Amino acid sequence: MSSTYEFTDHFYDVVVVGAGGAGLRATFGMAEKGLKTACITKVFPTRSHTVAAQGGISASLGNMGEDDWRWHMYDTIKGSDWLGDQDAIEYMCREAVPAIVELEHYGVPFSRTKDGKIYQRPFGGMTTNFGEGVAQRTCAAADRTGHAILHTLYQQSLKHRAEFFVEYFAIDLMMDSKGNCYGVVALNMDDGTLHRFVGHQTVLATGGYGRAYFSCTSAHTCTGDGGGMALRAGLPMQDMEFVQFHPTGIYGAGCLITEGARGEGGYLTNSKGERFMERYAPHAKDLASRDVVSRASTIEIREGRGCGPLKDHIHLHLEHLDPKVLHERLPGISETARIFAGVDVTRQPIPILPTVHYNMGGIPTTLHGEVIKPTPKNPDKTVGGLMAIGEAACVSVHGANRLGSNSLLDLVVFGRAAAIKAAELVKPNTPHKDLPKDAGDFAVARLDKFRNAKGDVSTASLRLEMQKAMQNDVAVFRTGSSLAEGQKKIRDVWAKRPNLGVKDRSLVWNSDLIETLELDNLMYQALATVDSAASREESRGAHAREDFPNRDDEKWMKHSVVYVTEKGETKLGDRPVHMNTLTKDVEPVPPKARVY
Ligand code: FUM
Repeated sequence: MSSTYEFTDHFYDVVVVGAGGAGLRATFGMAEKGLKTACITKVFPTRSHTVAAQGGISASLGNMGEDDWRWHMYDTIKGSDWLGDQDAIEYMCREAVPAIVELEHYGVPFSRTKDGKIYQRPFGGMTTNFGEGVAQRTCAAADRTGHAILHTLYQQSLKHRAEFFVEYFAIDLMMDSKGNCYGVVALNMDDGTLHRFVGHQTVLATGGYGRAYFSCTSAHTCTGDGGGMALRAGLPMQDMEFVQFHPTGIYGAGCLITEGARGEGGYLTNSKGERFMERYAPHAKDLASRDVVSRASTIEIREGRGCGPLKDHIHLHLEHLDPKVLHERLPGISETARIFAGVDVTRQPIPILPTVHYNMGGIPTTLHGEVIKPTPKNPDKTVGGLMAIGEAACVSVHGANRLGSNSLLDLVVFGRAAAIKAAELVKPNTPHKDLPKDAGDFAVARLDKFRNAKGDVSTASLRLEMQKAMQNDVAVFRTGSSLAEGQKKIRDVWAKRPNLGVKDRSLVWNSDLIETLELDNLMYQALATVDSAASREESRGAHAREDFPNRDDEKWMKHSVVYVTEKGETKLGDRPVHMNTLTKDVEPVPPKARVY
């Protein structure tokens, strides 16, 4: 090895990277099954971005009216615009009910109905009777559901004696000559030491890459570190063109105002005071699917009916709601609106704007969390030793558009599924092979490159350039020319990588170095996103092409797959959507027009 670094080595049955909802559910599930489990996380576990999830977690408990997991499955397939894998969706919706009961038993403090059941609110695209009525399916802990779940999962992880490595930044995967993963290299940011974590399974639970955009509801830490690691390891990402814009981010600040606000009776208006959603989604109105509402708001603004002196935002009204409802069910967003928009929600509407919120795309996996690298003969071929879960992964249950409150569900259902699979694949305390001579060299070379970067381009300026390009050119609406412009700008950003300058060489609490490594991860995924979007010549879910306004099932009902090289070249491919169900309990849902 060329560098002078020394590694501290750790040997585990499984190594989980990331301590959000998916990472923690997998961590304690694996520890519970007797596997020696390490969880590496760049932030303290309860600061992971799941903590910011507000409105709730979906499951057809039927506490507030009739419900059925098959209706939930139908809604999710329709919400995905028929790009979700129907077997995985069946699994998630069926498992949702026991998953919530399990969370309740672990101690999640859900809000309650008068008779003591878990409180459930309506959310966009969630219906009864295959699209006929409105379902109250989203289980809530006021508007702080993610916070409640994350703390409970962390407590369970401690109870089962999982071992945490907190404020360790994962740099790159360790892959053997056959393309199997045997662990990950991480930097302890507190003392600058380097660590090789060796596992029979490594699980990427590193979240999304929302920070590739200028305005997003994601935390600053949402830099898609797992996706960056996977791409550099020569693995693909899938469906990267599908980026969700949440209709109600606070204008200017980007902070989330939960869809639960509309679930509790809130509504949107334009500058004329019109409830414009009645025109775009006559049936579901303000509770149409997120892509539909975001597009409608964008059209209103474009056509001159935006609010405020610049006519550049929309109003969300809650002032007609009973203050008791605001106090009990929406206390968090009442405070957020006061702090970030200076608005008293009992008297004034909140200025809002569609804001990047979620990546439907990610590392392709089976429904047991095993990472897929398709071959011409086997589109579902798995990679040895590597799993991915949560927003970092693409199972795919969200397809082209995720329904609100299906994200927390995805985390717990597939975090648990990964734990079950890991316990099948790994016998506790199985001895490890000797490490290859070059173990960790790839990660160290990358660390060295950025640590010694002495160019005149600052990380902050290059990040801003990337974020502005993504925001302007890979937006709610896209055209061939906006995407071509985006491709050019993101390639200009990529070309400046060698000119980056990192302020100092220290490995201890060097935030400029860490942010540079994060930016690198973001850039890989920005490239993957813009090229995948330029390639898909149809409109489906969150991918709205004005030059190809219709869904084209004949040509495009397939997952896109993308590889990115160190030189910034992308290779695009595809794999089939699973249109089959897992059991005979339910029939596949054939594609049809998607109207709300
Ligand atoms: O609006 C929200 O509370 C967000 C929920 C989600 O993205 O699932």
